Amino acid sequence: MMKIMACSGLLFFFSVMVMQYFLLTTAQPTYTFHSCNNTANYTSNSSFSVNLNLSFSYLNANAYTNRFYNTSTGQLPDKAYSLFLCRADISPELCQNCIMDASEIIRDRCPNQEEAFIMYDECMLRYSNRSIFSVMEIIPPCIFFSQYNISADSGRFNSTLAGLMDGLVAKANSSSDLFATGDVNYTSLSRIYGLAQCTPDISPVECNNCLHVSVTAMLSLFHGKQGGRVFRPSCNIRYEIYPFYQPRAATPADQSPPASSTSSLPDNKGNERNTSNVVIIVVPTTVIVILLIVSICIFLKMRKPKDNFQTAGEITNVESVQFDFSTIRSATDNFSDENKLGKGGFGEVYRGRLSNGQEIAVKRLSRNSGQGDVEFKNEVLLVAKLQHRNLVRLLGFCLEGNERLLIYEFVPNTSLDHYIFDPMKRADLDWERRYKIIAGIARGVLYLHEDSRLRIIHRDLKAGNILLDAKMNPKISDFGLARLFILDQTEGSTNRIVGTYGYMAPEYAMFGQFSTKSDVFSFGVLTLEIVSGQKITSFRDIENTEYLLSYAWRNWREGTASNLIDPTLKKGGGPKAEMMRCIHISLLCVQQNVAYRPDMASVVLMLNSDSIALSLPTQPPSFMESNVQSATLVQLDINGEKTNYEVSVSELYPR
Ligand SMILES: *[C@@H]1O[C@H](CO)[C@@H](O)[C@H](O)[C@H]1NC(C)=O
Ligand SMILES: *[C@@H]1O[C@H](CO)[C@@H](O)[C@H](O)[C@H]1NC(C)=O
Ligand SMILES: *[C@@H]1O[C@H](CO)[C@@H](O)[C@H](O)[C@H]1NC(C)=O
Ligand SMILES: *[C@@H]1O[C@H](CO)[C@@H](O)[C@H](O)[C@H]1NC(C)=O
Ligand SMILES: *[C@@H]1O[C@H](CO)[C@@H](O)[C@H](O)[C@H]1NC(C)=O
Ligand SMILES: *[C@@H]1O[C@H](CO)[C@@H](O)[C@H](O)[C@H]1NC(C)=O
Ligand SMILES: *[C@@H]1O[C@H](CO)[C@@H](O)[C@H](O)[C@H]1NC(C)=O
Ligand SMILES: *[C@@H]1O[C@H](CO)[C@@H](O)[C@H](O)[C@H]1NC(C)=O
Ligand SMILES: *[C@@H]1O[C@H](CO)[C@@H](O)[C@H](O)[C@H]1NC(C)=O
Ligand SMILES: *[C@@H]1O[C@H](CO)[C@@H](O)[C@H](O)[C@H]1NC(C)=O
Ligand SMILES: *[C@@H]1O[C@H](CO)[C@@H](O)[C@H](O)[C@H]1NC(C)=O
Ligand SMILES: *[C@@H]1O[C@H](CO)[C@@H](O)[C@H](O)[C@H]1NC(C)=O
Repeated sequence: MMKIMACSGLLFFFSVMVMQYFLLTTAQPTYTFHSCNNTANYTSNSSFSVNLNLSFSYLNANAYTNRFYNTSTGQLPDKAYSLFLCRADISPELCQNCIMDASEIIRDRCPNQEEAFIMYDECMLRYSNRSIFSVMEIIPPCIFFSQYNISADSGRFNSTLAGLMDGLVAKANSSSDLFATGDVNYTSLSRIYGLAQCTPDISPVECNNCLHVSVTAMLSLFHGKQGGRVFRPSCNIRYEIYPFYQPRAATPADQSPPASSTSSLPDNKGNERNTSNVVIIVVPTTVIVILLIVSICIFLKMRKPKDNFQTAGEITNVESVQFDFSTIRSATDNFSDENKLGKGGFGEVYRGRLSNGQEIAVKRLSRNSGQGDVEFKNEVLLVAKLQHRNLVRLLGFCLEGNERLLIYEFVPNTSLDHYIFDPMKRADLDWERRYKIIAGIARGVLYLHEDSRLRIIHRDLKAGNILLDAKMNPKISDFGLARLFILDQTEGSTNRIVGTYGYMAPEYAMFGQFSTKSDVFSFGVLTLEIVSGQKITSFRDIENTEYLLSYAWRNWREGTASNLIDPTLKKGGGPKAEMMRCIHISLLCVQQNVAYRPDMASVVLMLNSDSIALSLPTQPPSFMESNVQSATLVQLDINGEKTNYEVSVSELYPR
């Protein structure tokens, strides 16, 4: 009797153990990494801190019922924005546990940071003091590989992997929650399992773009590892050689993959083991930091003599570029709808006329610029000093209460995209005008890169940012905005200072590395658009999802580059040799290899002189077969104390 009781007691004890183990392993989230944005700190007592705590409690309260949730609490400038994303295949309990853990841990790991981001296997949590909702952010990317090599035949493995991931990208962008999992046979004994997910606040097209660059980045760095992941703020992908997700239970039809029905116990264990030591490739945010330091140094150097001397025609003090709010209000008829020119990056733009008759364009910033008044003024002063006839001139600014305005010279003929992509209006732009526009843009960019006192990388060069004056001279707009805004985002997805998909150089889109050569890339795309009258993205979805660059390259290689020329130009009968030369130069600019791209000075030279021989271009990136020059590999011990990946940059990825 006793024996039986002891036995069943033992049995009971064991089943409790097993249940607990099961509960623990299924309901315990697995931390992966975090990233503190060390650009700003709040004080532990501040209202931001209080708002953040409140914000986190909303996230926690909604983690059981939602897979994605965003919330903001408090008032500007102490408003806290936060969001979480759980993997769509996990249980409500696990999502809730994950978010509870994450909101706890992130405070430990990133004490007093104004912005941070934490990843678990099962969930992601982000917060900031700037709005982070409904904006696709692909930078900074973070790429991890498992430390374990696959046993054999890596060539076939990566092509199998590529096929799987491409399928998942398509599946995710067409699913309602932008989430997809799937697996594929690799050998008769082994499979590859994959996952792709976007935050559902972005559109399917943006999701597709975000996942696509992630897959491309991962495959281009693929070096035979058993597992890999790419995290970006707006999307993430992952593959493993074991099932790490649950078959979707939402609809019976979704419950397909037979092999993934294995118990979650060994999976989770395998998971921990396999990720216990991963290699991370991190984008050198150091570049940004160095740039910032350099700009600050330059600024300090320039500031000292500020009040001591005044060169004729030069802006030297803040007062000369500061406008009264009332002046601007009456100039724009109290920001009337009739005077609204449109909505650009960072806010609405109004047309206005000052009392002296001068026409102006006023950008009414729709949100906090992320800077204090003093910093904002100083940055405006610096940007206002950049003067070139191919740059839209910044006349000044206005600060009053919550209002922040930027006042620009008025440029009458809207932007280049209104002409070249419009079937009727493009006829207004004959070759002579287009050539003038190309050459003008090149000179403007050269000024930003080399000739101004600050080296400015535009980062969002595109047709919509080229304004045309009454004589159809091009003027580059929105340069230097990266200096006026600490933040890297805007309202709309098309007008983003972080760059526009399609114009972004591959090293920037995939790894967040930018340089003057990424502007050169965008310039090349822009030139191709001007010559062809086609949008960079216009060829997508038809015929092999080709886009302008691959179309251009194919025609160039086959000796049919004249196919690229806008038919309306052919009718006009301009000098074909000059058009072909522009195509040639643009192909040099969009080369995959950064080192092969010419700098802006050479571009200007090549445009101005027919006698300079042009080298032969190499293939532009097709975003499918990329070869990365220098990403940084970081060895990170996930089991020990986690280090912020920013500080753990240790060795360079060979080649
Ligand atoms: C914020 O605090 C962290 C650590 O406490 C420090 O490393 C960082 O330099 C601080 N950043 C600023 C902008 O003060
Ligand atoms: C918290 O803030 C209050 C006022 O806002 C101040 O009086 C108090 O000293 C602060 N406490 C700490 C620990 O900083
Ligand atoms: C926010 O929450 C953390 C942890 O719960 C706590 O230590 C901190 O004091 C809270 N801060 C405020 C301002 O309530
Ligand atoms: C989430 O973000 C959207 C878009 O910005 C916003 O409209 C919505 O109010 C936010 N949700 C919450 C709970 O704040
Ligand atoms: C994986 O392969 C690389 C070279 O291909 C080798 O250096 C490394 O030691 C291997 N790692 C393991 C865990 O076998
Ligand atoms: C796959 O791996 C093979 C050899 O390891 C390599 O030659 C090939 O370029 C890789 N393909 C991709 C898409 O990375
Ligand atoms: C994958 O492999 C499994 C087991 O080896 C097999 O039953 C299944 O039919 C294979 N699936 C495909 C699509 O080849
Ligand atoms: C979804 O992905 C497929 C394949 O990558 C692509 O062809 C399609 O255009 C994407 N859909 C959207 C809405 O972006
Ligand atoms: C300007 O417009 C705002 C709202 O659009 C209104 O509240 C304000 O009274 C107007 N001011 C003047 C001077 O007309
Ligand atoms: C975020 O915090 C930083 C540092 O305190 C501050 O300079 C910036 O203005 C804040 N951004 C916003 C949008 O309030
Ligand atoms: C450009 O603007 C000027 C002055 O506003 C106007 O006369 C001219 O027709 C415009 N040119 C084009 C091509 O629209
Ligand atoms: C930090 O924030 C700034 C602006 O918000 C952004 O440009 C930068 O990429 C962020 N850095 C990291 C490591 O997230």
